[in-house]
Amino acid sequence: MKDISRKSVAITTPNVVYHVYPRSFRDSSGDGIGDIPGIIEKLDYLADLGVDAIWFSPFFRSPQRDQGYDISDFCDIAPEHGTMADFDRLLKEMHARGMKMILDLVLCHTSIDHPWFRGSASSRDNPKRNWYIWRDGRKPGGRKPPNNWKAMTGGPAWLYFSNTDQWVYFHFMPSQIDLNYREPDVKRTMMDIMRFWLDKGVDGFRLDLLHALYEDEQLRDNPLSWRFLPSDKSTSALFRSHKYDLNMPETYAFAVELRRLIDEYEPKRLLIGEVFGTMDELRHYYGPDSTGLHMVFLFEFTSTPFRPQRYAKLICRVEKALPAPDLPTYVFGNHDRMRLMTRLNHHTGKAKIAATMQLTLRGVPFIYYGEEIGMPNSRIKLRESRDPVGRKYAWLPAFQIKTLGFSLSRDGCRTPMQWDDGSNAGFSSNPAAVPWLPVHPAHEDVNVAAQQADPNSLWNCYRRLIALRKECSALRVGAFDLIPVGKPSKKCLAYRRTHYESTVFVYLNFSGKELRLRCPVENPDLLFSTYEERNEMLTAPDGRLILAPFEGIVFAPRPEKPPKDLTTGNVPEVN
Ligand code: GLC
Repeated sequence: MKDISRKSVAITTPNVVYHVYPRSFRDSSGDGIGDIPGIIEKLDYLADLGVDAIWFSPFFRSPQRDQGYDISDFCDIAPEHGTMADFDRLLKEMHARGMKMILDLVLCHTSIDHPWFRGSASSRDNPKRNWYIWRDGRKPGGRKPPNNWKAMTGGPAWLYFSNTDQWVYFHFMPSQIDLNYREPDVKRTMMDIMRFWLDKGVDGFRLDLLHALYEDEQLRDNPLSWRFLPSDKSTSALFRSHKYDLNMPETYAFAVELRRLIDEYEPKRLLIGEVFGTMDELRHYYGPDSTGLHMVFLFEFTSTPFRPQRYAKLICRVEKALPAPDLPTYVFGNHDRMRLMTRLNHHTGKAKIAATMQLTLRGVPFIYYGEEIGMPNSRIKLRESRDPVGRKYAWLPAFQIKTLGFSLSRDGCRTPMQWDDGSNAGFSSNPAAVPWLPVHPAHEDVNVAAQQADPNSLWNCYRRLIALRKECSALRVGAFDLIPVGKPSKKCLAYRRTHYESTVFVYLNFSGKELRLRCPVENPDLLFSTYEERNEMLTAPDGRLILAPFEGIVFAPRPEKPPKDLTTGNVPEVN
């Protein structure tokens, strides 16, 4: 592949981040649960794919009521995932391969089983009492929660403890109680925990539910909202706004403090926020003059319909809200969302278009494990759900769940990685192991081994795109411009990426029909096509660009050839 960038740039941000859900990646011990030594076994696979940074969902000590997002010791490894020595080896092996490690830091809450919470709940005068948010109930009798706040998963956001006759606040699930960041010891301790991992050499953090860190000091009631269903455009849902419990000014300020903390370290470390809100609210986390987080997840991409005009609008909105040097993120799935392939009705052509778009936009692409082979979502009954959110809604009748249009259990997107067509899809070293979630039956066709052997597979498409992105500075950091294509804009998304004098063009055909479009350059030089073997001409005799059904291409203007020395056929030397 040719390097079409003329100037090299110092990139401290990753080319692509791969998201590993440790429980489901690779089980080396044979107990049916993924572990750190299993991840180490697969690092060469990730290096071969071209991955240069990995975000790990939590593998810290936890009672696993929310699969590790309920932490009971922030500085220890859960025994089912390995030991601290395993962790140290993972970090060393990753760094030896030039990969960055991004840990998932759950600052917002602790497990209800954390010794801090046990102490805090034990009596009103326990030294840890103020580490969590305790309040009397509403009068008369204090039998009602202190205010009208709702948890993210529905229902009141308060849990009553009769021993001290007070309520405690939680934002997500009652087994995960929110820490009180207005208590200086909490803030100090959590920042020390960050230092603990930074001193070990980790390269950054993904900050879980950061937008829920601070709440209104007076705990005022949240106003009503007309929104019922949750969406990625705003936090309002279930007829409540979140004016007083999410995205508080103190949280924006804390993002800047966190940045200051990690900036003490060399080489530079990264901060990525899991925050929800309007684009304007998200923007605040980047801080004044980009002094806050390096990036936040833009979840609208996980729910935008697969239509070029919808993406065009969204990308332009993102570019406007987060101009360079701020970095957008391109996320099509994660451990909480329905898998991309299922949203695309298992259409490989569409998945290749999505991948091409994701890997040619300005910002940082995040690939959820298995996305590179088009792993589908599993159907798992709510009653059998391992996910506490699924179990919470197990009482809902099936027809009502269908009308919601989204999945209530997150198990479906967390099934074991499909490495091959063997028993357990190659997930476990023990063929007789019962994986913690059933392997998707599609693993016989959809698996890494099969796709690596097929040059035209989705896996090979991702691999070629990642390699192209790595080589081409215009794709990594170049400016973005939408190219108006006129009437075909219902079928085609086109844009240009420019970095200094290097320009590349991306044309994506979202339709099942061949398209012919005006070509923006006279002599296009094809750098990539979603069709591995593209033998046909890129342009028709009339000069128009030809796009095959569901084809995505990347091209550049063909460099002008220097004149040849007619006597020798050699290119003359230029002094
Ligand atoms: C985040 C995580 C999710 C977890 C929740 C509570 O949204 O992505 O998996 O359940 O926080 O920590």
